[in-house]
Amino acid sequence: MKALFTTLLAASLWHSLPAAEVRSPDGQLQISCDVDAQGVPHYAVDFQGEPVVLPSTLGFTFVDQEPLQGGLAITDTQTRDFDETWEMPWGERREVENRFHELRLTFTEDHGAHRTFDVVFRAYDDGIAFRYVFPEQDGWPEAKIAEEHTQFRLDTDPMCWWIPGDWDSYEHLYNQSRLSEIDAFKAHENAAIMRSIVPHNAVNTPVTVQTDAGVYLSFHEAALTDYAGMTLRVDPQGLALESCLVGSERTDYKVRRQLPFETPWRTIQIADNAPALIDSSLIVNLNEPSRIGEVTDYFQPMKYVGIWWDMHIRTKTWAYEGGQHGATTAYAKELIDFAAANNLHGILVEGWNTGWENWMDAKSREGIFDFTTAYPDYDLAEVVRYGKSKGVELIMHHETSAAVTTYNDRIDAAFGLMKDLGIHAVKTGYVGDIYPQGEYHHGQWMVNHYRSVLEQGAAHQVAINAHEPIKPTGIRRTYPNAIAREGVRGQEFDAWSPGGNPPNHVPTVAFTRMLAGPIDYTPGIFNVKLAPYQPDYQVNSTLAKQLAMYVVVYSPIQMVPDLMEAYTGEPAFQFIRDVAVDWEQSHTLNGEIGAYVTIARQERGGDRWFIGSLTNEEPRALEVKLDFLDPDRTYRAVIYGDASDAHWDKNPTAYTISRRTVTRDDVLELKLAPGGGAAVALTPLNR
Ligand code: NOJ
Ligand code: CA
Repeated sequence: MKALFTTLLAASLWHSLPAAEVRSPDGQLQISCDVDAQGVPHYAVDFQGEPVVLPSTLGFTFVDQEPLQGGLAITDTQTRDFDETWEMPWGERREVENRFHELRLTFTEDHGAHRTFDVVFRAYDDGIAFRYVFPEQDGWPEAKIAEEHTQFRLDTDPMCWWIPGDWDSYEHLYNQSRLSEIDAFKAHENAAIMRSIVPHNAVNTPVTVQTDAGVYLSFHEAALTDYAGMTLRVDPQGLALESCLVGSERTDYKVRRQLPFETPWRTIQIADNAPALIDSSLIVNLNEPSRIGEVTDYFQPMKYVGIWWDMHIRTKTWAYEGGQHGATTAYAKELIDFAAANNLHGILVEGWNTGWENWMDAKSREGIFDFTTAYPDYDLAEVVRYGKSKGVELIMHHETSAAVTTYNDRIDAAFGLMKDLGIHAVKTGYVGDIYPQGEYHHGQWMVNHYRSVLEQGAAHQVAINAHEPIKPTGIRRTYPNAIAREGVRGQEFDAWSPGGNPPNHVPTVAFTRMLAGPIDYTPGIFNVKLAPYQPDYQVNSTLAKQLAMYVVVYSPIQMVPDLMEAYTGEPAFQFIRDVAVDWEQSHTLNGEIGAYVTIARQERGGDRWFIGSLTNEEPRALEVKLDFLDPDRTYRAVIYGDASDAHWDKNPTAYTISRRTVTRDDVLELKLAPGGGAAVALTPLNR
């Protein structure tokens, strides 16, 4: 009945049958498109025969041109089928299937200058995407976009997992509410974030929703290039989300482009179960193949230690002055020895360079860091040499304090120094409001800055792990030196923010932010109560859940962040030594958004499997079928689980280690404590 009603509604809106349609290869998803009586373009999406996106408008307003929101006619239609399998240099899986049916519609004004643009729709089995393409045309050399008006009208009021549409930060806690109840301003009030601006009742993407009919949709964008990041403005009455681009105080437009150009893809991952969202490759598939050749000759996925957590729990300082400086040659060497002894191949050293005494000075952040001058107690070349002698790579640290003009001026010298010393990875940071003032982290100017760092990194054989980044949009396919990024409220918030990250945070992140790409979350804190250093704060997780995150939260670089003494004598540390960081294949075995999730991954180039399973504050018993294992083998399973009386707050470090022999016919019963988890290492016996 509902389907019939919506079809009638669509028909009345479209005044005839839709002009064009395209179906996914498996036939389950269908995109329809038409213009209404006023020449306004609309598209709609059906899934399994039911509408999931109602007829929704497409269009633009400009600073110095008439809007492109009506008076349009479809003047050309083209279709294309595509099917390829490509290989990720590193990733959640080696082989990625990229199969879609495409519909390209040309819209032309029926009056005036007869301006024209195409919309390219793609229907995949795991979702849909579309982008606008503006061809070269007479009399219109440059577009100054005031706003993009892409609508996503939903047929019901779904449950949504969202963060506010902050123009500067993604480091918010996720909220769960019906779409009609989203209040980004209220959610913003208590955010303990250094730099934050929420100008509209909008959300950042990925935003994931679940309808009462059990359909899961996640809205995001792919291939964000030379364009502003897109937030989604909430229309609570109309049950719609609508694009709202991040702007700038320095310009009267949000995006400025010479024609021809194309926008990023607007994406919706769609499935009838939550795990399928995590297994989707839609976002990377919508990006171009590598433009920088191979990266694996200078970057290999790795686990890394750091002079880092020390500063977050305040046992050491970034700054040299004050007598507690963390980044000393001696401490770095101690950590390198520890890494080498434990199958960890990277070390991050923060606070190594001059400038940290006044890096957050609101007035004078420009010019503070030069990224080449070390403090007197840190011998950079010696740390690199010593690390290399032990098989441990230095990860350079460039905290720009968002003084981007300074970084742009000095990046060449900074990357030059790295090249001279043979350093092939850098963690960048953009804490604070952006210099030049008036720019925001997620506007077009900064999107271009982050891209230029990737390009310059590639020229110097440097891989980038950006903090306070632009959101991931699958660019890692085109720039595989984009190894990981933050763009999430990471575990560091547990060290110093009131309340920290609650137990439901990671099971929410897995179905939202993680759909966009790798996360530098920094799991692996064993001293979860932070005693005796930070008595008022704690990590809201059991120790076993910290292990599970190494499998659940995907990144090709995984930190092992706690102080060395936290791991000493802990049998559970064996899991961190063993766990892989690069994967042949990955399967999400179960999960619900914000509640729990279980992922199994097979190590790349090997035959071991790892399982991570974690829950929110609810305890759970989960049955995990091992039918993904090789049928010809038996495996030794080492199961790191919560003890029966474990609890994220009352008893977080109680864990058990059990061993079993299993085959693909077995079912593991994993018992997760409140706020807990389980991690399993499976090694074939008959290798
Ligand atoms: C914020 C980053 O997220 C954090 O990891 C880093 O330690 C500080 N900035 C200092 O650069
Ligand atoms: Ca951060």
